[in-house]
Amino acid sequence: MSAAQETPAGPVLVTGGAGYIGSHTTRLLQARGVPVVVLDNLSTGWRQAVSAPFELADLGDRARLDAVFARHRPRAVIHFAAKTYVGESVEKPALYYRENVFHTWNLLEAMRAAECREIVFSSTCATYGNPLRVPLDEAHPQDPISPYGRTKLHMEHMMQDYARAYGLQIAALRYFNAAGASRAGDLGEVHRPETHLIPLVLQVALGTRAKIQIFGDDYPTPDGTCVRDYIHVEDLADAHLRALARLQAGGSPLAINLGTGKGFSVREVIETARRVTGHPIPAATSPRREGDPPILVSGGTRARDVLGWEPARPDIADIVSDAWRFHRAHPDGYAQS
Ligand code: UFG
Repeated sequence: MSAAQETPAGPVLVTGGAGYIGSHTTRLLQARGVPVVVLDNLSTGWRQAVSAPFELADLGDRARLDAVFARHRPRAVIHFAAKTYVGESVEKPALYYRENVFHTWNLLEAMRAAECREIVFSSTCATYGNPLRVPLDEAHPQDPISPYGRTKLHMEHMMQDYARAYGLQIAALRYFNAAGASRAGDLGEVHRPETHLIPLVLQVALGTRAKIQIFGDDYPTPDGTCVRDYIHVEDLADAHLRALARLQAGGSPLAINLGTGKGFSVREVIETARRVTGHPIPAATSPRREGDPPILVSGGTRARDVLGWEPARPDIADIVSDAWRFHRAHPDGYAQS
């Protein structure tokens, strides 16, 4: 792929562009000179993370969506806005079906009305459910075990149907575990409440949390703790630009895993953070967290073959170092920036 093929044409509307992966992707679009507008309802995102033109809007509000499409005339959409907690989705499935499925339908209808035909969106390895084999390639059956995973699979199916019937160009990017922070040090992972392993471990190193709980050490893995494939958020951002450029070159439909293909256990992540931060990071074992498969590691070569994408920063120590630089500079998240 040439540089031009890695950079899509805009304008691009980024939903959820104030969130973790959305803000990094918006930054990369801007750096490549692609016109971009962010749409976010700031329910979990951060206005401080956005330096692009911004529309405060909820995807449930069709009239607002139509106005945004009329004002900015986006050629394409990158759709991040969604609810993303597996545990919460079990407690509140209605919220997940509304925000992830119904709001995506609303977005697709607004796109159809505005004749906007290209969409790249966040899917997840959670659409595969419990792995029948590892690593997980894209041909693995999709049988999600949580409402979260099911809503993401519904989104994939809805888009496939729109692609067939209405000519929508679609790319479903199935992420493994997004991690790390911008190398510039000003964008990173800030969730309230935080549930993800790496930011929680780094809170212990910062002294704002006493210890990290390891959720289960009796899994059928080498050290008994869960194994995940951590992928740098800037590598994810790069893959979105490539996927959109590929769609624009006639590549639809796409469904592509994004991971490094290498797994690290919870204990290995904690050990890496100890080395990176120089802090002892006390850990204690607690019972398994419901719904955690023992091992999730990305397989297949589709990202490389179709997008020419390789992770530039696959090393877990680099990923944790970048996250550490951000968290040290922003111990209260974006609240103090
Ligand atoms: N973990 C701990 N202690 C903690 C937090 C997490 O041991 O305090 C463990 C989890 O049990 C898991 C691993 O660390 O084994 C990673 O957990 P995260 O919460 O960081 O990430 P998940 O793997 O649960 O979630 C990610 C995405 C979801 C996606 C899911 C697919 O954030 O959006 O992968 O399984 F749905």
